Amino acid sequence: MPITEILSKPLLEKEDIKTLLAAKGEDKKLLLDKALQTKLAYLDNHVHLRGLIEYSNICTKYCLYCGVRCKNIKVTRYQLTDEEVMECAQLAYKLGYGSVALQSGERSDKTFIDKITYLVQEIKKIGNGSLGITLSLGEQTEETYRRWFEAGAHRYLLRIESSNEDLYYKIHPRDAKHDFHQRLACIDSLLKIGYQTGTGVMVGLPFQTLDDLADDLLFFKEKDVAMVGMGPFIPHPDTPLYQYADQIPSAQERMELTLKMIAVLRLMMPEINMVAATANQTVDPQGREKAILAGANVIMPNLTPNEFRENYLIYPDKACVNDKPDECHSCLDIRLAAIGHKVLYNAWGDSVAFTKKHS
Ligand code: 5AD
Ligand code: FES
Repeated sequence: MPITEILSKPLLEKEDIKTLLAAKGEDKKLLLDKALQTKLAYLDNHVHLRGLIEYSNICTKYCLYCGVRCKNIKVTRYQLTDEEVMECAQLAYKLGYGSVALQSGERSDKTFIDKITYLVQEIKKIGNGSLGITLSLGEQTEETYRRWFEAGAHRYLLRIESSNEDLYYKIHPRDAKHDFHQRLACIDSLLKIGYQTGTGVMVGLPFQTLDDLADDLLFFKEKDVAMVGMGPFIPHPDTPLYQYADQIPSAQERMELTLKMIAVLRLMMPEINMVAATANQTVDPQGREKAILAGANVIMPNLTPNEFRENYLIYPDKACVNDKPDECHSCLDIRLAAIGHKVLYNAWGDSVAFTKKHS
C-alpha cells in the first residue's frame, strides 16, 4: 500500500505501523510532515517546559543499560539537600516554567518516601500551588503512589522500557527486583489513582525489532496514557549492555527511528504530551528540535545544580551537562522560534488527552 494511503487511514493497524517505521526518503518525509501537521492542528505550536531536578543518583536496582545502576562503583553518589531542591523549584517558578519533574534513582525505604512527600508539599507551596509536579521515581507500592498524589504530585513517569516481556528481560536482570509484571502493575496503579501517567521506551536496543516497536506504540494506545517519552538507546561503557554496542543500529539510525516512533504515535494519539528527550540531543545536536518537528511538544530543561550533573549520567555524553540553567533557558526560546514553535510560559501544560478524558 502506498504511504499516502496508509497516512490517510483513520486507524493504524500493526502492519501499517511497521511500514511507517520502515519508511525512508520521500516516504519518511511524508510521515514526518503529516505528524507535524497533526500536532499543529490539535495542540498548536506550543511547547511546554518541565524543569528537571535530578534529586539523587542513589539506586537500589541494576538495570543492564543504566549508568547509575547500583553495581556501577565508578559513580559518586549524591542526594540534593532540601534547600537545593527548593532552589531548583524556585528557579523553575522564576523562569515561568510552570512545572517541575523530580527524578531519582529507585528507592522505596520509608525515609525516602517521607522525604519525597515532604518535598512535594513544599514545592506545592511555591506561588500558592503554581507549579505542576511530575514524579519520576520508579516502581513503588500503590500506597506510596497514593501518598505522593495526595501530597500534590499529579503526573508520574514510568517507562515500560519495552512492552515485549522477552526483550524486557534482555535489558533487565531476570529477578524479583526487575519484574516485568510488577512494572505493568505499577503503570496500572498510577492510571487508577488518577495521575497523568507517562510511559515510554528506548529505541534501538539490542535485539529490538520493528515488530517490538510497533507493539510498544500499540501498548501506549491500549493503556491510553497521557504522556510518552521515547529516546534513542545510548550504550554506557560501564554497563552490561555495552557488550552489544557494535550490534545495534548507528546513532544516526537510532535517532531516525526515534523520530519515526514519535511521528507515528502523534498520528495514533494526537492529543497526548510527548517529550523531546535529552537523549535525542545527545545523539544529534539538533535532536531536540527534530523531535519537536516530528510531533513532540514537551521539553525538560535540566535545573540540577551543575556540580551534580556529571554524576547523573544515565548514559554517556549527556547533553547540557555543562550548561547553566539560565543559559539553557534563553537558548531554548531562540532554538524553538527558529523552527516556528514557542514556549508556553507560566502554564501547567497538562495533556489535552487527559483533560478531555477526565472532564
Ligand atoms: N540510553 C538511553 N536512555 C536510557 N535510559 C536509561 N539508560 C539509558 C541509556 N543507556 C532512560 C530509560 C529511563 C530514563 C530515565 O532514561 O528509559 O526510564
Ligand atoms: Fe536504577 Fe534501573 S538502574 S532504576
